[in-house]
Amino acid sequence: MKFTFNGREIRAEPGDTIASALAKAGILELGRSLKLGKPRGVFCCSGYCFRCLVTVDGVPNVRACITPVRDGMVVTSQGGSRLRAALIQMLDKVGFTSPQFYFEKLHLPFTAAAAATELFRRAVSGAELPPPAGCELKAGSCEVDAVVVGGGAAGLAAARVLAEAGLSVVLLEEKPEPGGMLAKVGFIQELGCSGGKLADEMVKEAVQAGAEVKRGMLAYAVEGNVLYAVSEAEAVKFKFRGLILATGVHELPRAFEGNYLPGVVNVDGFMTIVNRWGIKSFSSVALLPPPAEGRSWHLLAEKVAQEAGIEAVKVPEGSAAVGRGRVTGVRTPSGELIKVDLLVAPGRLVPALELAKLLGFRGGELSGGACEIRSRVYVAGLAAGAGSVLDALRGGEEAGKLLAEELGA
Ligand code: FES
Repeated sequence: MKFTFNGREIRAEPGDTIASALAKAGILELGRSLKLGKPRGVFCCSGYCFRCLVTVDGVPNVRACITPVRDGMVVTSQGGSRLRAALIQMLDKVGFTSPQFYFEKLHLPFTAAAAATELFRRAVSGAELPPPAGCELKAGSCEVDAVVVGGGAAGLAAARVLAEAGLSVVLLEEKPEPGGMLAKVGFIQELGCSGGKLADEMVKEAVQAGAEVKRGMLAYAVEGNVLYAVSEAEAVKFKFRGLILATGVHELPRAFEGNYLPGVVNVDGFMTIVNRWGIKSFSSVALLPPPAEGRSWHLLAEKVAQEAGIEAVKVPEGSAAVGRGRVTGVRTPSGELIKVDLLVAPGRLVPALELAKLLGFRGGELSGGACEIRSRVYVAGLAAGAGSVLDALRGGEEAGKLLAEELGA
């Protein structure tokens, strides 16, 4: 397959996302930040940081890291040019682009305010808006016994158990391929196999048991017993009797000098690049220490680097990423400059509970692999506090069994 990126022809293999194909071609800079025109590249590689937005066939704000390549697609960068950045910085000095300015000075008369807001939006955005015609989605609805959101270890285990109990089950996975963290952790000592292999087997088992696995479908809202989801091709309203949210965790970004540079990634991003995209040709990678508070995956980053034969240099807190269009080195607090290709910044892990909150869940300790937050609605796996992918898998199984019982199967 072939596509173009800013006019340059790029080759892609089956299974490549836009960002993985570009990274294999040595391209890490995907665009520029809207306001300051600084280079931007992938960070989480998993769809939740929004640093990899590109325009695809005229449609803006597409996440390059989770969008599969289609033959012949035309991909272009988004973001501000250096000239635009200089202009915005100048306007900033007089407060012209601050939200306060919009609200205080641009609210009356309404028509003028709307026109001025649109003008500013176009001035600071590199994207063509609105999207071209032909993007209308096919809408549909569907009734099932259970919906499982998230195709990682917990979600796959839960879907299999529910399907084996004779229930109709749909599993929704936002990314092109299920597997989640399980597919990125590398070799699992306790099982004597790689997480990727186990993930593939679990997908097969869930499908053989009768679960429908929908890839590239984002569950974005839930209300009562209706869940709303959308993919590139369709929008679907799922009416369910039971729901399992196996939505995993988000890894938060860290604040440090140069953290915006392409080549700075979190652990999730690093594991995806190495174990999902199969890019191991880094001569040296720097690892920042874990964050001061909360859980992180810093030990997994070391393990993944070691298994891939990548030299990992531990750099102290307070180190800065340096480089122009991408990271080329790390400057330590003592002033030492270390040459690296990538800087991994482990972030604090927070459960991805956005959908649970829409159902009235107000937070609190979720400790364990399976927690019922409302009648027939479970949070399972890493999102429910599981400490490892194997704990997540057990949590998913448990949630599946408990829900199947409640549904009378
Ligand atoms: S959303 Fe694509 S890199 Fe984070």
